[in-house]
Amino acid sequence: MKESLQKYAVLGWPVEHSISPQMQNAAFQACGINAEYERIATPPEQLVEVVERLRRQKYSGWNVTVPHKENILPLLDNLETNAKLAGSVNTVIRSANQLTGFSTDGYGLEKALHEAFNTDIKDSSLVFIGAGGATRATAMHFALQGVKRLTIINRTLEKAQSLCDLINTSVNRPVATPYPINRPDKWQAALLSADVIIQGTSLGLKPADPLPLSVEMLEAKMCIYDMIYKKTPFLQQAEQKDCRIADGHGMLLHQGARSFELWTGLDAPVEEMRKVLKQII
Ligand code: ATR
Repeated sequence: MKESLQKYAVLGWPVEHSISPQMQNAAFQACGINAEYERIATPPEQLVEVVERLRRQKYSGWNVTVPHKENILPLLDNLETNAKLAGSVNTVIRSANQLTGFSTDGYGLEKALHEAFNTDIKDSSLVFIGAGGATRATAMHFALQGVKRLTIINRTLEKAQSLCDLINTSVNRPVATPYPINRPDKWQAALLSADVIIQGTSLGLKPADPLPLSVEMLEAKMCIYDMIYKKTPFLQQAEQKDCRIADGHGMLLHQGARSFELWTGLDAPVEEMRKVLKQII
C-alpha cells in the first residue's frame, strides 16, 4: 500500500520568490518519499491562524521565513536549544501534535563557509556586518559550536551590543564583541585578522542600496561571504579587490538540507538539491 501523502510548506510574506519548494520536492522525490511541499503566503496578522491550520491539517513540518522567524516562537510547544537562545526558528516539526522549532540557518552557513573557504568554525575568528535577523539566527550557532571570536559591526551599536550580550551570556564566555560601523579604528584589526567576513545586513537587495562596508577596508585574499542570495555589488567589488567571495546560495542549500534531515531522519540528497538550485539560478 502506498504511504499517505505527507504535507510540508514554507510560510513567509512575501513567499513567491522562495525556491525551497523546488529544492525540497526534488529531495523527497530523490528519496522516494510521498510528500508535497508548498508555499503558503502568510501575512503577519495571519500567522497564528495559519500555524493552527497546519497543526489541524496534520502537516508533517514546515519552514518559516521572513518576517516570521521570531514571531513564531510563542506558537510552538518546544524549542531546540539553538533556536531558543537565538530567538529564531526556520524549521518546525509536528510530531504527536506537538510543534518543535529548530534553527538550521547557522548550520547552513557553517556548511557553506566550509565549502567556499574550507573554514573550520572551531578555529575561526568571524566578523559579521549587521546585527539584524540574519546575524541573530546564525551567530549563536557559531558561539555554541565553539568559534574562537565573533566581532559584530553594526550601524546601530545598541543592537549589536544586545546581541553580543545575549551570545556571551548564553555560552558563558566573552566570545562576541560589538562595534559601531562608523568607528573603523575600533574594528579594523579584527577585520584584518578575520578568517571570514560575513555580510548579514539587508544592503544589496535593492539596486539603490549603499555598500554595507567601504571596500577600501578589504584586502586581497580576504574571505567574504554575503548571506544575500545573489552576487551583490559588495561581493562584486570585493572580487575586484581579489578577495575570495561566496553568496548566500550555499547557506540556502544547507539550511534546507538540514530541515529535510530533521523531518525525515534521512541523509539529505544534497547533490540533487544543489542541482535544482543551480537550474533555477
Ligand atoms: P532583518 O531581520 O531582515 O535582517 P533587520 O533586523 O531590520 O532586518 O536588520 C537589517 C540589518 O541591516 C541591520 O543590521 C541594519 O542595521 P541597524 O541595526 O542599524 O538598523 C542593517 N541596515 C539596514 N539598512 C542599513 C543602512 N542603510 N545602513 C547600514 N545598515 C543598515
